[in-house]
This record gives sequence, structure tokens and C-alpha cells, in this order.
Amino acid sequence: MEPGTRIESALDRAVAHAEAPGAPPLLAEAIRYAVFPGGHRIRPRLCLSIARACGEDDPALADAAAAAIELLHCASLVHDDLPCFDDAPTRRQKPAVHIAYGAPIAVLTGDALIVLAFETLARGTRRYPARLARLVGLLAKSAGSPSGITAGQAWESEAHVDLSAYQQAKTGALFAAATVMGAAAAGADAEPWRHLGEALGEAYQVADDLRDVACRQEEIGKPAGRDATLGRPNAAALLGTGGALDRLARLTREAIGAVPDCPGAARLTAEIEAQARLFLPASLRPVSA
Ligand code: IPE
Ligand code: IPE
Ligand code: MG
Ligand code: MG
Repeated sequence: MEPGTRIESALDRAVAHAEAPGAPPLLAEAIRYAVFPGGHRIRPRLCLSIARACGEDDPALADAAAAAIELLHCASLVHDDLPCFDDAPTRRQKPAVHIAYGAPIAVLTGDALIVLAFETLARGTRRYPARLARLVGLLAKSAGSPSGITAGQAWESEAHVDLSAYQQAKTGALFAAATVMGAAAAGADAEPWRHLGEALGEAYQVADDLRDVACRQEEIGKPAGRDATLGRPNAAALLGTGGALDRLARLTREAIGAVPDCPGAARLTAEIEAQARLFLPASLRPVSA
């Protein structure tokens, strides 16, 4: 099955569990609204690519890992858009969850999606207890503190923030989850895959910072210029457009250089190169890219 189809159907099965009879109707509706239609789905695609490159023996494990990672990502977006964080009214070209359903349901939607991520992972990997235990630990590391999304968002409340540490935690951690969990789902050694995810995730956030500074809301489906309004550390604002483009190119090279030896290394490297070229909209791509 094609990766996009695998991801959408794994997510659909996961969300269906939150819609079982007896669920509060608004919460059930908001959970589906937060997950579909999706955005780039870049993290679950990465997870499936790594599992395949590692010679996966049972695709159901990588499907569960990929869905869990995307559910966690969707949760982070719902919480990130709340008035107490980025106060963003639009996400994925439609009203943010708190605009559509109100802030209490949005908080609970994010909470429920985080729990659903772990539940989905556990359900999909229960026939392989050793891998399940490893995968749960890896997902938790990417979600919590000191180095996961929670920590990344918390840096915004600190007086002094290191740009790289902030971007690593809020974005790099979940990309790293995609690479290490893809390997672990295939029964391979996970840690050699971490650096690839970290570098790619940081590159992705630098590209997002460039989009925030240089694109219009209609192009990116979410408010533009938000980082300046909120006083958030932004690579393009701190380094200038040229400096941020250089950083993006350096991090992308670093990621590609970090692909470990594996049966599918050549194909994987080509896939990552192709993906990374799409991080920026055409209007922002350097002429040589
Ligand atoms: C947005 O991520 C948040 C960042 C970490 C930059 P994506 O650009 O992957 O969001 P969707 O899933 O495509 O909407
Ligand atoms: C995204 O950071 C990181 C998350 C944990 C959601 P941003 O605040 O820069 O992402 P967007 O621009 O809202 O998608
Ligand atoms: Mg934010
Ligand atoms: Mg935001």
C-alpha cells in the first residue's frame, strides 16, 4: 500500500476509537476535525520510510508508530494555537480547533490526542512486547520534558532562550521520534537514527520560520508574521533571510550525511533530499536549489 494511504487509514482507525458510542459528541467531532484533513504528514512519512529502509518485517508496527507520531503532532498544533500560546485563529486553511469548538474542548482535544497517540501505539504493537516497550519510551521522550515538545513550548516562558535548543525541542524531537521509532518498529537499533531526525526537524523549523516571515496566510494556511507579533525566537528574524537559508542548507546536509548504513540507504537518501527541497515554497527557494 502507498505510504499516504497507510497513514490516512491508520489515523482513521485510531480516531474511530475516540468516536465509540458514549463519547461526548463535541469532543469526538473536534478530535476528527484536528486530524483530518491533514497537513504535510511529513513526520509519519519519514517514520514509514525509515522502517522500510531498515527492512521492516511487519508493516503494522510502523503504521502504529507513524499514526502515534502524527496524533501527537496534531495535539501539539491544537494546544499551540490556543490563546494562551500563539493565539492563532487559523490552522490548515480552516478555523483552529478553539475557534470552531471553544477553548475548553480544544484543551481536551489536545489532551485526548496525546493519550490516543500512546493507545494507538500500544494497540498496534502489542504482539511484540519488547518493541512496544522501546517504542513507548521513545514517543514519551519526544513529547515531554526535558527535551520534547512540552519542553520546547515551555522555553517560550523563559527569559533566555537558545534558538537551537528551542527548535530542537519543539520540532526536532518529534522528527527524531519519527526516525528512531521507524527503526525500532522494524526491529533495528534505534539510536543511530536520532541525529538524522534531529537535524531534519531543526531544518524544518528554520524553513517554517522563513515561511512565517516571508509568506502570506493564504500560502501557508495559518497566520503569517506571528513570531514577530509574539516575540518568539525566529531563525529568519535573528539571522536574516540569507543566514536562515544558509542554516537550512547546512542542517539539511547534516541530516543527509547522518543516514546510517542500512539495506535501503540509497533510496532513503534520495527521498529525504526530495522532501527537503519542498520545505520552502518555490518563492523562497534559492535559485540553485
Ligand atoms: C507545523 O508543522 C509546526 C511546526 C513544527 C513547524 P507542519 O508544517 O508539519 O504542519 P502540518 O501538519 O503540515 O499542518
Ligand atoms: C510549532 O511551532 C511547534 C509546536 C510544538 C506546535 P510554531 O508555533 O512555530 O508552529 P506554527 O507556525 O504555529 O505551525
Ligand atoms: Mg508556537
Ligand atoms: Mg504557532
